[in-house]
Amino acid sequence: MKRNVLVLWIQLLVALSIMLSSTVVLAASGPALFIEKCASCHVNGGEAAPVNPADKAAIVWDKYFKRGRHPVALESRISEADLEAVIEYLMNHAADSDQPAAAVIPK
Ligand code: HEC
Repeated sequence: MKRNVLVLWIQLLVALSIMLSSTVVLAASGPALFIEKCASCHVNGGEAAPVNPADKAAIVWDKYFKRGRHPVALESRISEADLEAVIEYLMNHAADSDQPAAAVIPK
């Protein structure tokens, strides 16, 4: 009985550490995904004007894609998980954040 409890705790700890490490990987890939997925169109001389995290407040970024405001459908170009990582990156460096990022994609 006691052994089972110990095994359960170990499984829980392993599951928690996997969850924590994958969160870190997601957060780290935000900027790279932003450049890869968004700057393909949003670039000087490209299909759309450059966009940067500091262009909008965090709450605006949070709602922008959820409310379907983006004028072009992106489903075929970016997975839901990757889009969430990009949104998290945009929010962390939004105009009202501690570290606004204004020139990731040069204007
Ligand atoms: C297939 C090309 C394409 C991709 C990929 C794309 N966009 Fe856009 N986006 C556009 C077009 C076209 C417009 C409308 C024209 C414009 O704003 O220059 C637009 C408009 C926008 C606007 C509104 C403009 C503004 O300044 O408020 C935002 C914000 C935006 N996109 C963010 C993003 C983000 C973030 C990504 C990456 C997840 C992304 N877009 C990926 C083509 C694209």
